Amino acid sequence: MEWKTPVTEMLGCKYPIIEGALHMGGTSKVAAPVSEAGGFGIITAGALKKPDKFRDDIRRAKDMTDKPFGINISIGFCKEPEKMLEVALNEGIKHLETSVYIADNLGKMVKEAGGVWMHKVAHLDHAIAAERQGADAVCIVGLEGVGEKGFAQVTTLTSVTMAKKALKVPVIAAGGIGDGRSFLSALVMGADAVVLGTAFYICQECPTSEKYKQRLVAMNPLDKETRDLILLQGEDTRRDERLREGTDHVGAPTVRMAQVSMAIGYYDRIPTVKDVIDGIIGEAEEIMRREFPFTSSKT
Ligand SMILES: Cc1cc2nc3c(=O)[nH]c(=O)nc-3n(C[C@H](O)[C@H](O)[C@H](O)COP(=O)(O)O)c2cc1C
Repeated sequence: MEWKTPVTEMLGCKYPIIEGALHMGGTSKVAAPVSEAGGFGIITAGALKKPDKFRDDIRRAKDMTDKPFGINISIGFCKEPEKMLEVALNEGIKHLETSVYIADNLGKMVKEAGGVWMHKVAHLDHAIAAERQGADAVCIVGLEGVGEKGFAQVTTLTSVTMAKKALKVPVIAAGGIGDGRSFLSALVMGADAVVLGTAFYICQECPTSEKYKQRLVAMNPLDKETRDLILLQGEDTRRDERLREGTDHVGAPTVRMAQVSMAIGYYDRIPTVKDVIDGIIGEAEEIMRREFPFTSSKT
């Protein structure tokens, strides 16, 4: 099957699968294999900390793949965001994902350089604000996800479906996605691509220890403690007031963070990046053939 969407066109990748920012581990070691396997890899600037380290890592990724990849700048987590963006632009990287807080200044810099700006949010109001500020695509993370925790976050199902109705720009879904069925569900909700964090974080290529990853894949999202931590909502009354006042605020506070999301429930062993992407696409195509044969006559 061909998996062409407005987002694959925008990013130049084969499949509408994007690597989420990973504050711990989001380097070329994961980003390059994601792009090589047909997804869109993202190097997380905050994971490299310093501009020279970031530059080196972008160069490493270029040595590892000819396919396009992008960068993430998470506001508040990445020191010197403008400098990091300048480094990336000087290296010819034109795809920027921002997240956590308002980032239209960075979005403007990228767009002036002829690039693409995606912004990730955890609330529909922030998605609308991001579109208004010029984002080319908006990623909305549902409650099932990890990392970006909003103070009034709702499920991925509701967030994506509402965002699709509210936005003109392409919508990217995140939160609890990690196998063929959840991937297809996101597309049916109206997403033009998905962002995966947990699924790539537990991969062999991710530079964290094997022992740690074994512990992660053994986690069960149905266990009360794990479940409660994942579903935890952020609280930020200050921002709540600003929202009520109608001030554009793009982003959400991050609170005590679970290490993985509900998507951990799809994995019981440590995969490679290619296993994740091939697994999702293979399963999705099989589901389309078996369960929706009338829609896949061209495959
Ligand atoms: C270990 C880890 C670190 C993360 N760090 C960041 C980060 O620095 N900035 C950010 O915007 N999102 C971060 N995220 C969130 C992901 O980019 C992505 O939005 C989220 O994982 C999607 O939900 P999923 O885990 O269900 O796929 C992180 C996720 C994980 C698992």
